[in-house]
Amino acid sequence: MGKFISFEGGEGSGKSTQWQRLAQALEARGLPVLATREPGGTPAGAAIRRLLLTPEGTALDPLAELLLYAADRAHHVQQVLLPALQEGKWVLCDRYQDSTTVYQGLVRGIPADRIQALAQWTTEGLQPHLTFLLDLPPEIGLQRSKSRLAAEKSGEDRFEQEAIEFHQKVRAGFLKLAQQEPKRFVILDATQDMTTLHQKILQRVEAFS
Ligand SMILES: Nc1ncnc2c1ncn2[C@@H]1O[C@H](COP(=O)(O)OP(=O)(O)OP(=O)(O)O)[C@@H](O)[C@H]1O
Ligand SMILES: [Mg+2]
Repeated sequence: MGKFISFEGGEGSGKSTQWQRLAQALEARGLPVLATREPGGTPAGAAIRRLLLTPEGTALDPLAELLLYAADRAHHVQQVLLPALQEGKWVLCDRYQDSTTVYQGLVRGIPADRIQALAQWTTEGLQPHLTFLLDLPPEIGLQRSKSRLAAEKSGEDRFEQEAIEFHQKVRAGFLKLAQQEPKRFVILDATQDMTTLHQKILQRVEAFS
């Protein structure tokens, strides 16, 4: 079995930046790497991603939102994550189940027992070995996110449009999960510069391998 590492955190916290830099660093060492993301890590998932992250999904019912994430993840686990891990790859995933536990569970308010039951069903219990939580005040994250979305002319701003209270709950939710599973989570102060964060992540991955 390969190693499974996920990146979690609120909008604009630097997940994709660090995920990409870690992938490059491991590849440079000649390790087999699969870098993927949720939602949208498969062609079918890309269609689900559009619905979830663009204004096309405006006013999605919370239960429908949860089930769309679950559909994307079930497909991704079966078609991408499990095969890659079986081939012994280093699988790096930009968001995974913890995002659903936080956004659809703790923040949207779907009861934890339902979220847990569905998680078991969609992931078959597949958990990351290591999860980096990029923790950042949401005001800073949203500012970063806005600049990136504008620069890339991306319309994936459905969550960015939520009120600041929503993003504060997201931050608190991730910290709560991390405290519940201190062995799996590494909490990083995401106000640090990109290179410092990358070095800390790499050190932690090297200690782990
Ligand atoms: N440590 C950092 N310090 C300052 N700016 C950063 C840092 N990390 C990333 N950024 C910048 O902030 C923006 C958002 O970063 P990134 O896309 O990696 O975040 P994300 O967590 O993946 O966001 P999203 O939730 O929107 O996917 C980018 O423009 C990126 O260059
Ligand atoms: Mg991202």
